[in-house]
Amino acid sequence: MKNIIAIDGPAASGKGTLSRNLAKELNFAHMDTGALYRAVAFEVLKQGKNPANEGDALYGCKALKGNLHNASPLSNPDLRTEEIGDAASKVASIQSVRDFLTDMQRDFANSPPFGFNGAILDGRDIGTIICPNAPLKLYITAKCEIRANRRMKELQSKGLSVTYEAVLEDMRARDARDSNRKVAPLKPAADCVIIDSSNLSEAKMLETALTYAKKAFG
Ligand code: CDP
Repeated sequence: MKNIIAIDGPAASGKGTLSRNLAKELNFAHMDTGALYRAVAFEVLKQGKNPANEGDALYGCKALKGNLHNASPLSNPDLRTEEIGDAASKVASIQSVRDFLTDMQRDFANSPPFGFNGAILDGRDIGTIICPNAPLKLYITAKCEIRANRRMKELQSKGLSVTYEAVLEDMRARDARDSNRKVAPLKPAADCVIIDSSNLSEAKMLETALTYAKKAFG
């Protein structure tokens, strides 16, 4: 069995931080799959196109693919705004966009870059659709108000001027769209471990996840 850890959960649940910490600890390669959807959305908005339109969203996929040899489009800090997060959740509701990005994610999971012991992917449908056979699946969640507060601080630390109310409203809308969509809705896999990060420190989250990783991988 492949050494794959699937981590899913809603926005600002702490899955990204946990994934990075876990990857470092276990020497696993990490893929932030949300960055793929954000990068597609970024290409769509750059052209003044509509992220909810299938043709426009597929244009974004092709533009991203054409740019991927540069390696940098996924680490572009401009991807992290709530505007891009919102547009990402629109392109992510389109089946053909998800299909376009599926192989990239599965290839990474099954053949992580040389030198790593395995792969961690974080997103919305990793445990349910992308890697249904992953030996360890974590679903990270937290109260909506706590997640909005975390996201507000994250955005403010990047110099963006945002209010708590606006972030909370955006987050509720995005959570609803991600959970209610017909294609790959956000939901815990039947065989996942659910961790509520509302009252857990970053260190405690890592410790908890490592306990499950030891059980899954020995
Ligand atoms: O960082 P945050 O959790 O706010 O968002 P993200 O993980 O970067 O994902 C942005 C959007 O992409 C989400 O709201 C989802 O709609 C979509 N997404 C998805 O549908 N499937 C994934 N595997 C990852 C992200």
